[in-house]
Amino acid sequence: MRQILIVYGTTDGQTRKIANVLAEDLRARRCSVDLVDAAGPLHRLSPETYDAVIVGASVHIGAFQKPVVRWVRENAKALKKIQTAFLPVCLAILETRPEARQEIDKIVERFFRQSGWRPSVTKPLAGALRYTQYSWLKKWMMKRIVAKAGGDTDTTRDHEYTDWNELRVFAGEFVARLATREIMTGAEVMAGGVV
Ligand SMILES: Cc1cc2nc3c(=O)[nH]c(=O)nc-3n(C[C@H](O)[C@H](O)[C@H](O)COP(=O)(O)O)c2cc1C
Repeated sequence: MRQILIVYGTTDGQTRKIANVLAEDLRARRCSVDLVDAAGPLHRLSPETYDAVIVGASVHIGAFQKPVVRWVRENAKALKKIQTAFLPVCLAILETRPEARQEIDKIVERFFRQSGWRPSVTKPLAGALRYTQYSWLKKWMMKRIVAKAGGDTDTTRDHEYTDWNELRVFAGEFVARLATREIMTGAEVMAGGVV
């Protein structure tokens, strides 16, 4: 059974929800999954005992959660030896302006430089607007930003944009990558034996 570690950072809870849904999906695909909040007490877990690691974090004012950056930086060496994926969660991905996509690419690239890690796969996902949880100041600020981008400004309720089907497809492809890698590694071992 493949052992997968999911490490996530969240501020308002949507990335935790995504990580939980992903964990359930991977378990249904016969993987053993550990799920860890980078800000929690289990952040000292090492990637070395896993076949793969998936990191999720959300963008808040152009940056990801610091505990995620720290954990990835501390474990970058071990992460380079296994299959990894990064799931940046944001709202800019919903915009059609090319500048919005470029901005996300820049934020992700900065994270890779800061942490010294480049994952095998990067899959940006749309997050949510949790207006009902925000302080009045955060709600006011988000409503202004979202209005400019042409998004949902009804602050009496939350708006979820995560495409759960897209996440399911990602999970399937990631598990398939792991299986392919295992076959290739087996072939390399066999080739090595012949030589
Ligand atoms: C204060 C604040 C700042 C945000 N800044 C950005 C941003 O710079 N770029 C972006 O694409 N999304 C931004 N977002 C949207 C979040 O990435 C989105 O709400 C995401 O779902 C948050 O995930 P979380 O609930 O796991 O923290 C921001 C949201 C908030 C509340």
